[in-house]
Amino acid sequence: MLDKKVADLINNQVNKELYSSYLYLDFSVFYEEEGLNGFANWYMVQAQEERDHALLMLRFLQNNGVKPVLEAVDKPDKVLSDRLQVLEFGLEHEKYVTGLINNIYDAAYTVRDFRTMQFLDWFVKEQGEEEKNAEDLIKKMRLFGDDAKGLYMLNSELAARVYTAPSLVLD
Ligand code: FEO
Repeated sequence: MLDKKVADLINNQVNKELYSSYLYLDFSVFYEEEGLNGFANWYMVQAQEERDHALLMLRFLQNNGVKPVLEAVDKPDKVLSDRLQVLEFGLEHEKYVTGLINNIYDAAYTVRDFRTMQFLDWFVKEQGEEEKNAEDLIKKMRLFGDDAKGLYMLNSELAARVYTAPSLVLD
């Protein structure tokens, strides 16, 4: 059985990850409307990954004797109008999520819950990768986004991203 505070934070994180999925789905819709199907694909894959994160959190609760409680998912709150700014919103959001994961880790550390800490290690690493991906994308957009050929090439690169199931598997 998990500590109540740790369990509540993980339950809340299920909702936050579902919100992340919803937010990136909104990004995908924005870029599709812009005619940038590669960017739209990138965020569609990202939305799938975020859904996986939510399901991993949910399964961890179930595997540790806690019944998950599903709350309403907020409407994506960003006004999307600028191709570069949307990418910046993505990085800002990932930094926020990193803070949430760190908070759960901190709560688990406080009660010496090594099992949850070990589970969260995967997410700590994942957040590092996601922040790096978001930063790299912003850099590329700043370098090439104002040039039609550059944008075309970048869009083609992002179109190649394919969904892969998470490396963390819980029974
Ligand atoms: Fe689930 Fe983008 O962190």
